[in-house]
Amino acid sequence: MALPSAAELPSPREPGAPYRVCLVCLGNICRSPMAETVLRAELAAAGLDGAVVVDSAGTGDWHVGDTMDPDARAALAVRGRDGSAHRARQFHPSWLSRYDLILAMDSRNLADLRRMAGAQGEATDRIRLFGEVGGLTDTGTRDIPDPWGGGPDEFGHVLDLLGAAAPVIAARLARLLETAG
Ligand code: 4NP
Repeated sequence: MALPSAAELPSPREPGAPYRVCLVCLGNICRSPMAETVLRAELAAAGLDGAVVVDSAGTGDWHVGDTMDPDARAALAVRGRDGSAHRARQFHPSWLSRYDLILAMDSRNLADLRRMAGAQGEATDRIRLFGEVGGLTDTGTRDIPDPWGGGPDEFGHVLDLLGAAAPVIAARLARLLETAG
């Protein structure tokens, strides 16, 4: 698979420990939990479950504790995936140092996370855009659009984008962990 030429992924913070990835959107009920479900499946297919641990969070607090949006779950179910276990969380600034890689769904989420990092005196190099790491920018897509309140077409489009990016991200993680030993 041709991998994008974007900057290398951040090195593991603790070699030998699982590489921890957090996927972040606004509400943590649509995009980032859908992405979590899709990326986890790709990582399992690549033999990386255990080596890479993926979870998700939102920058906002409106839906903390909620299940995934019903339309998001329905879109996943159409493709044979189960999103029933998800419960929404808000990203806490103290989590910035817990993750090897934090992937924002859109430019607003990215700016919010980088602002949070700046206020904490944390480096921002582990905070990236999901679409960039997943090679979507090579095809002109930067952001995973917010589907909340949309219909099946919007959610299906989000899943198409996630499905295109996730194998690229999994392949990049595989290469990184191979190189890092
Ligand atoms: P998400 O979608 O960020 O993909 O989970 C949204 C869910 C809820 C809201 C906004 C976006 N909200 O404003 O409550």
